[in-house]
Amino acid sequence: MAFNPALLSSIFIVLLVFSTVTNALSLNYYDKSCPNVEQIVSNAVKKGKANDGTVPAALLRMHFHDCFIRGCDASVLLDSTRGNKAEKDGPPNISLHAFYVIDNAKKQVEASCPGVVSCADILALAARDAVVQSGGPNWAVPKGRKDGRTSRASESVQLPGPTFNISQLQQSFFQRGLSLNDLVALSGGHTLGFAHCSSFQNRIYNFNATRDVDPTLRPYFAASLRNTCPIKNRPRNAGATMDSSSTIFDNTYFKLILQGKSLFSSDQALVSIPRTKGLVTKFASSNQAFSDAFVMSMIKMSNLNGGQEIRKDCRVVN
Ligand SMILES: *[C@@H]1O[C@H](CO)[C@@H](O)[C@H](O)[C@H]1NC(C)=O
Ligand SMILES: *[C@@H]1O[C@H](CO)[C@@H](O)[C@H](O)[C@H]1NC(C)=O
Repeated sequence: MAFNPALLSSIFIVLLVFSTVTNALSLNYYDKSCPNVEQIVSNAVKKGKANDGTVPAALLRMHFHDCFIRGCDASVLLDSTRGNKAEKDGPPNISLHAFYVIDNAKKQVEASCPGVVSCADILALAARDAVVQSGGPNWAVPKGRKDGRTSRASESVQLPGPTFNISQLQQSFFQRGLSLNDLVALSGGHTLGFAHCSSFQNRIYNFNATRDVDPTLRPYFAASLRNTCPIKNRPRNAGATMDSSSTIFDNTYFKLILQGKSLFSSDQALVSIPRTKGLVTKFASSNQAFSDAFVMSMIKMSNLNGGQEIRKDCRVVN
């Protein structure tokens, strides 16, 4: 039989997919090798939150960003090096913070069980703890992720952006094996946190050829956003909280979308087709339905894996 590069490459792809799928996570992964890991991470998040109320939102967002690029492999935690600009320094104003909370957790985990727990698992646990400590649902986190060796600033453009419409959002989630249900449930993570003016500026100035302001925004809400985000003499770091109870994990975010008070085009986009609008309506009326869906989608998203090693320091490859 003649050498067939196409066949070889399709076998390679099959193997690659298979190896990704079979890198299975488990709930009791560290039961013997690092029984205290969950307690250590939870304490680190608690301490971080006590010092800075924005820490939970930051950790949840950090985990999303990690999983959306190269899988949940802690690529988002790597620092830039002399020859490489890392994801965290990427272009779309990603403004991630609270990396020190992960560093603190890792340091204590290493002291208790050196070389055993991946940074990717620490981040996945920290994201869960961030939700729990903000009054949201609790769940058991599958573990056994490995840390990746690559982090590129240029890849941060693969993140779904705040100006995305529903088809762009759908495509971004589908490419990662995530459904429209996952899109709506995970968007509920916007219940925590703060947005800079630059991420919703498109809705309040020069919206389109005929309108200055996005007509789906409540006029008085749009006016208050314009007040917060003046074109001239805008304070550095000006912006707005993602929902009116921005340190409490709840379904307020969905209620605000239905009231024309969401911040991002990508939030408003969730009510632009019946399928996702139905879910927004359901989650707005039931915090329990939202919590259940969020947990399922978090577990699904945080199963996307890609790494190879257990990093010693979350900021540098071994
Ligand atoms: C976002 O990035 C743009 C272009 O790099 C910059 O002009 C703008 O000030 C940034 N906004 C924030 C809030 O960092
Ligand atoms: C979403 O945006 C893309 C890119 O701008 C455009 O091609 C597409 O038609 C838009 N889809 C919807 C439903 O607006």
